[in-house]
Amino acid sequence: MLGPHVDAPSAQLLLPQAKQIPPAAWQVIRNVLDQNPQARDDVSCLTKLLAGEGQATNGINTDGLDANTAAEPSDFSLKPAERLPLTDQCHHYTGKHEVPWDIQKYFSQRYSIFSYYDDGVHMTDDAWFGVTPEPVANQIAYELSEDHYDPKKTILIDAFSGAGGNTIAFALSERWSRIIAIECDPATLACAQHNAELYGVNPSAVTWILGDSFEYLDQLVNNPEKLHPDLKVDIQSTMVFASPPWGGPGYRTDEIFDLSTMQPYSLSQLHEAYKKMDHLLFLPRTSDIRQIAKLAPKGEKLEVIQYCIEGASKAMGAYIPAEKSPASNE
Ligand SMILES: C[S@@+](CC[C@H](N)C(=O)[O-])C[C@H]1O[C@@H](n2cnc3c(N)ncnc32)[C@H](O)[C@@H]1O
Repeated sequence: MLGPHVDAPSAQLLLPQAKQIPPAAWQVIRNVLDQNPQARDDVSCLTKLLAGEGQATNGINTDGLDANTAAEPSDFSLKPAERLPLTDQCHHYTGKHEVPWDIQKYFSQRYSIFSYYDDGVHMTDDAWFGVTPEPVANQIAYELSEDHYDPKKTILIDAFSGAGGNTIAFALSERWSRIIAIECDPATLACAQHNAELYGVNPSAVTWILGDSFEYLDQLVNNPEKLHPDLKVDIQSTMVFASPPWGGPGYRTDEIFDLSTMQPYSLSQLHEAYKKMDHLLFLPRTSDIRQIAKLAPKGEKLEVIQYCIEGASKAMGAYIPAEKSPASNE
């Protein structure tokens, strides 16, 4: 009944009385957990919210639930993000005269970036440079829902969520049982959460993390026991999508873009972090394909895609399968 919240620390405390709780009350608990990320960690918050639900929750005994017995959110360096408020760095520009000169070009393409722009899409000024235009984000989401990408992968990590361009398309594709979307800048994450809501993304479809995706992936692979329960996922069922920063618009002038000097993260740094999982890298269109080819498992070819809008390439996608463990016969 609790879906993705079954491992939430506060929900765990209800499990001993599971048989006494009627189905209608479980539904209320599920709704409360869907809508209030804090209640997943904080049992006193869950208790208060359930008390406000009235009769439907009469069958639940919240007296013995002690917040001290729940895992303390502060024990975890990374935890699911709250719904962050928009800040004065988050803008919805309505006319070119409001827009800083260096993003005016992107502003004029706003409807091909977000078709619902006028409904109140918010962006930080930096996010305009990196956001994946909606038709490209939809195409990637569609391709990943095709069967030749392993259907056994049911969890997606979006390592650089930005203002939400890709995360929204992934969520709306309904291909994934869980999406974990990570962004290190709070204002940008607030925009992504706001934009996802505006696009009608189900709040329980995406677990947002405010933090460093390299730290998260390192913990997931090497120390999963240290992760907050909501962030622990089975890496065999998980793939990574990564649209890292490309180090500014300089990539456009390079005939062949050297991925070993890409800033702030080089190709090898990205691959090293993701190699235990299938991963799709979203890279500059002129990326050096020979550098990418070196990541192919022995004897295999990689799939590399140019994503175009109106005939002009916007970016290159490189799909890299997980490194095979020596014990694997596959
Ligand atoms: C190219 S943008 C991603 C755009 C996103 N795919 C979209 O469509 O909106 C890269 C984002 O990664 C964030 N970022 C950079 N380093 C990060 C890290 N180590 N962990 C998480 N986010 C990071 C940046 O703040 C930026 O918002």
